[in-house]
Amino acid sequence: MSGAEKAGKNFKIALIAGDGIGPEVTAEARKAADAAASSDGAKLEWSAFPFGAAHYLSSGEILPKSSLSELAEFDALMLGAIGAPSVKPGILERGILLELRFAFDQYINLRPARSLPNVPTPVPLGGRVMDSVVIRENTEDLYMGLGGVSSSADGLFETRLDLKRGGYTLAGELKLSVSPGMSFAVQAALNTRHGVERITRYACETAGRRGETRVTIVTKSNAAPALYGYFEDTAKQVIDSEYPGIKYDVVNVDALCYHLVRDPLAYGVLLCPNLFGDIVSDLQAGLAGGLGTAAGGNIGDGLSMFEPVHGSAPDIAGTGRANPIAAVLSGALMLRHIGLENAALNVERAVGDYLEHSPRAELPFEFGGGAACSEVGGSILKKLQEGDNGEFRS
Ligand code: NAD
Ligand code: IPM
Ligand code: MN
Repeated sequence: MSGAEKAGKNFKIALIAGDGIGPEVTAEARKAADAAASSDGAKLEWSAFPFGAAHYLSSGEILPKSSLSELAEFDALMLGAIGAPSVKPGILERGILLELRFAFDQYINLRPARSLPNVPTPVPLGGRVMDSVVIRENTEDLYMGLGGVSSSADGLFETRLDLKRGGYTLAGELKLSVSPGMSFAVQAALNTRHGVERITRYACETAGRRGETRVTIVTKSNAAPALYGYFEDTAKQVIDSEYPGIKYDVVNVDALCYHLVRDPLAYGVLLCPNLFGDIVSDLQAGLAGGLGTAAGGNIGDGLSMFEPVHGSAPDIAGTGRANPIAAVLSGALMLRHIGLENAALNVERAVGDYLEHSPRAELPFEFGGGAACSEVGGSILKKLQEGDNGEFRS
């Protein structure tokens, strides 16, 4: 779509604010996205969906099938966070968040990790800028949902599978026994050629967009040679055969964590299987200044979903201490995805300008300031309305 076609265009955005701090941070992200879109000549039309703990506890409904076809009609989905102490872990996270990722085949989890002006980092960066990105495979690995707990009496576990993923169906049975009989748990992980190839291509294209020639393949082929050796070998084959301009290095995830803490600037594009991507993106968020700044996008060929890396933070929900910057920057990723590049840049610049030029008291609690979530959102909105926020100094 050309710039002229987008001007005056309305975009339909679905919102699942979710649990804990989700509604607090998405309220601010929404204001920033609206202001930026309108300065780009576009309008966002929002529709809120109630899914999350309160809705589940009052209605028993998690994510009805009908909502998936409804959501498919939207241009993008913004999500706050899912999960609450009042509901057993996994019910809502798998039932809503992972179900959305799988149902819309959002195979890319894009998680940039950038240090921001005036944001303290636990490892000194010496005035340098951290600008790395986790490209997390988002539909396979340990997240497939294959497994369960055996019955304690006989030590047997048996389940039939019929899972649909974008591009394939996984069918069959998983049958295991332990002798002498005792209870056990099993969670099987799977990586397919289809899954690894497409995420590797996206990682290489991301490196190209960033003007870089290196992709780091994050692995653990020493301990799990079948699963992660396969991921590593398949990724190498794709790069060797399709991306002559890209070099790769390979690092075990344990060593990666060590190197990152010693030098947070050591890596650019990190290509991760699903589970390692989850863990490494929280580490990266911490190194770049805090989970309250870490944005994310779950991207596929259909509906894509934009959400912070962080969760519902029940420990600070309702206190005003949540930092909305991660949600605001996730909104920028969403604007970029729907083609509003200027609006996305304006949001990023407004965040940078606010952080660079605000006294400490006006910064989020997470950075030692005293500004509540809505005040941080208000300051960013003001910068957006003033315009001319200079370059985004990440
Ligand atoms: P979390 O990310 O919610 O919180 C980890 C720590 O970071 C907490 O101390 C929290 O206060 C802090 N934090 C997080 N976001 C912050 C922000 N915006 N500003 C300031 N501080 C922030 O992780 P958790 O405690 O493991 O999980 C809590 C719940 O959220 C669980 O139910 C979990 O399953 C769920 N969760 C959901 C998502 C998601 O929806 N994408 C992601 C992670 C966790
Ligand atoms: C994330 C979260 C989820 C994940 C949980 C809540 C299932 O930690 O989005 O990073 O593991 O992907
Ligand atoms: Mn996570």
